[in-house]
Amino acid sequence: MDDRKIIHAPLDLREHLERLEAKDLLTRIDEPVNKDTQLHPLVRWQFVGGLPETARRAFMFTKVYGSDGRKFDTPVVVGVFAANPDIYAVGMGVPEEEIGDLWNRGIAAPIEPVSVDDAPCQEIVIQGEELRKPGGGLASLPVPISSPGFDSAPYLTATLCVTKDPETGIRNMGTYRAGLKATDRLGVRMATRLTGAGGYEHWQKYKKRGERMPIAIVLGAAPIIQYTGPQKLAIDLDEMAVAGGLAGAPLRVTKALTVDLEIPADAEIVIEGLIDTDVVEPEGPFGESHGHIALEEFNMPMEVTAITMRRNPILPSIVSQVTPSESSVIKKVAYEPLFLHHLQKVLGVGGLTGVVMHEPLSNLRPIIFLRFKYGIPQSEIWRALHGAATLQAQCGKIVIAVTDDVDPHNADAVFWSMAYRSNPIKDVVVVPYRSRTHGPKQDDTANSTMLIDATSKNLMPPLALPAKEFMDDAKTLWEKIGLPTLSPQAPWHGVHLGDWGETWERFAQAAVKGQWEQNGKISLQRRRSSDDVHPETPVRRVEKDI
Ligand SMILES: Cc1cc2nc3c(=O)[nH]c(=O)nc-3n(C[C@H](O)[C@H](O)[C@H](O)COP(=O)(O)O)c2cc1C
Repeated sequence: MDDRKIIHAPLDLREHLERLEAKDLLTRIDEPVNKDTQLHPLVRWQFVGGLPETARRAFMFTKVYGSDGRKFDTPVVVGVFAANPDIYAVGMGVPEEEIGDLWNRGIAAPIEPVSVDDAPCQEIVIQGEELRKPGGGLASLPVPISSPGFDSAPYLTATLCVTKDPETGIRNMGTYRAGLKATDRLGVRMATRLTGAGGYEHWQKYKKRGERMPIAIVLGAAPIIQYTGPQKLAIDLDEMAVAGGLAGAPLRVTKALTVDLEIPADAEIVIEGLIDTDVVEPEGPFGESHGHIALEEFNMPMEVTAITMRRNPILPSIVSQVTPSESSVIKKVAYEPLFLHHLQKVLGVGGLTGVVMHEPLSNLRPIIFLRFKYGIPQSEIWRALHGAATLQAQCGKIVIAVTDDVDPHNADAVFWSMAYRSNPIKDVVVVPYRSRTHGPKQDDTANSTMLIDATSKNLMPPLALPAKEFMDDAKTLWEKIGLPTLSPQAPWHGVHLGDWGETWERFAQAAVKGQWEQNGKISLQRRRSSDDVHPETPVRRVEKDI
């Protein structure tokens, strides 16, 4: 019997938007907004404007126009999949803390989709000359420019690129960028490195057969389907079945009209086409998630054979480029649980309490932090360091283990831990040979890995800040006086880190009651001759019962 919980994820984008609106996570912008110059920069401000992650929102632009003056009826939504983890959780239909378990369940027990004929994504069909007429085809969609001033074209970013292995028939759905080239042509970029894009492996097989590759670019599927696009799944795992596993029920697919592929039936827009495997065409520049503009590369031209859509469709777009961004949140929320699961359940590492991928600027993959309980044997810590560095080719160039009183979201705390808890000569290991990091390269030297054990090797004295009760009390006073509003930055109060003594506890308690002279009388009785005891000798080296 299947004992999985029934998940109540929204099963199409519209239901998701309603839920976001009900939770006050969606902002509608009814002002006219230029998709080529204003739309992405406006949403970008919530990532670079000093707002906390929790204040980020999804946006719906209802009056979109282009720099050529053209007005679009189709609204554009941005940030609706993953402006922050709260929004992602709405899309998964579970509270944020259950997202990791749900991913592990979905991957472990995929559910095959069901094929239907009544597909909303095909209510409107654009084909033939309609695709080629001026302003028709792709030009009729309000596709925004992500990095105005640098990008060469409007780009589809919230994609699910559906392809099929010509030998096994197994489907792949990956999120790849696709730049507009003509009303009926796109430039698609699929990572060609080993273990790169699944779609590229299919492309290679079609090329060998001398055939064009059928592809369907799906826009605006249910979030639970969309989230499988950037997730790193085994090549032979059908993302649609994993999405079913996440939903706890089979999801609806339908046959594409002009290519031999099945696509999510309830998506907003589908662009069907063929990739010519004989030719490549310059594509880019385009602002990438590694934080630089990707310069022009030869990539795959896609000839559009049909555009199908719902009546009154909605076009989604994802803010990527310099992180944090929607693109990094969508990956962070999905990757961290996979790493934790692998280290805890597959490698059986003991004492590991969390995996955090570093998000600001570095874009998750290169730097990973592992959190451990205090007192875990170093053999476990080093197994985890190596495991995190090798699970995925692109992830874990620098892996740092910390004890879990250190919050890796605070880079200062990590530096503090490295400064006081690691000895580089024995706690840092550099391992040769790893694949090149995503992004522009610095030189031709083979890449490498740095592993750092910055965990606490010994119990430590308390963190030197006033105890929590005193900081709380002082905050109340601060607010009563009307001083500027505080946003506490951890660590903001002292905590015990294992090394302390009853005598010192008594002293501290007496001091806060104003009884410091009593403490002085006690220390007077404990004096020693300086002939016997050198200054700076720890007291407990002399007195054993501290
Ligand atoms: C917004 C966004 C854009 C992305 N663009 C690309 C891209 O252009 N090419 C690519 O290979 N991967 C891109 N990725 C990363 C892939 O989606 C990711 O590696 C995914 O695992 C690929 O799926 P696959 O293994 O099924 O190919 C992008 C991810 C996001 C979130």
